[in-house]
Amino acid sequence: MSRKDLILLHSPRAIEEAVAGLARAIDADAGGRPLTVIGVLKGSFIFLADLVRKLQTPLSLDFVRVKSYGKGVFPGEVRLIKDVEIPLHRREVLIVDDIMDTGLTARFLMRHARKRRPRSCRLCVLLDKPSRRLTRIVPDYSGFVIPDVFAVGYGLDCNERYRGLPALYALNQPVPAAGRSRNG
Ligand code: IMP
Ligand code: MG
Repeated sequence: MSRKDLILLHSPRAIEEAVAGLARAIDADAGGRPLTVIGVLKGSFIFLADLVRKLQTPLSLDFVRVKSYGKGVFPGEVRLIKDVEIPLHRREVLIVDDIMDTGLTARFLMRHARKRRPRSCRLCVLLDKPSRRLTRIVPDYSGFVIPDVFAVGYGLDCNERYRGLPALYALNQPVPAAGRSRNG
């Protein structure tokens, strides 16, 4: 697809290979122990669906939803909108998000999950944007490192647009303020 508003970052074939590589690494680390996979809504939904179909390790699945506030009285504040409904105690937990940007969401979710005393808690992101990091958190697994662009497609949105595109793109235009609201 050729569009003026989007610049191709990664094709469906490249994404598929990256997801397969992530699944192999996660399987190797799990060593057959069942995983409790937590998807971060909404942006991770396509990545998560592809990832779990490539994993050989048995797993349980649940979702969380968070809201981040980039501006205002509490900059960087992250709030939980929907919590997990399955136990994490003594489980091998894997949090799956679409992209790590500042890392504030990931830090919040790792701390939140660790309060439940899992056996382990790891983080997998499809995209890593380390240039914007405000925390020292490093993902355990990441598919692609990308520069400071606004990524859309393959589940990622800008103002709820572009989620259904099968490839990953960089937005070739200024991101409207609401698009940065980071609600998933
Ligand atoms: P962080 O807390 O700044 O790391 O932001 C994480 C969340 O912001 C991600 O889960 C996404 O929902 C959203 N986000 C950050 N960067 C982008 C982007 O380039 N495109 C789409 N969503 C993004
Ligand atoms: Mg998200």
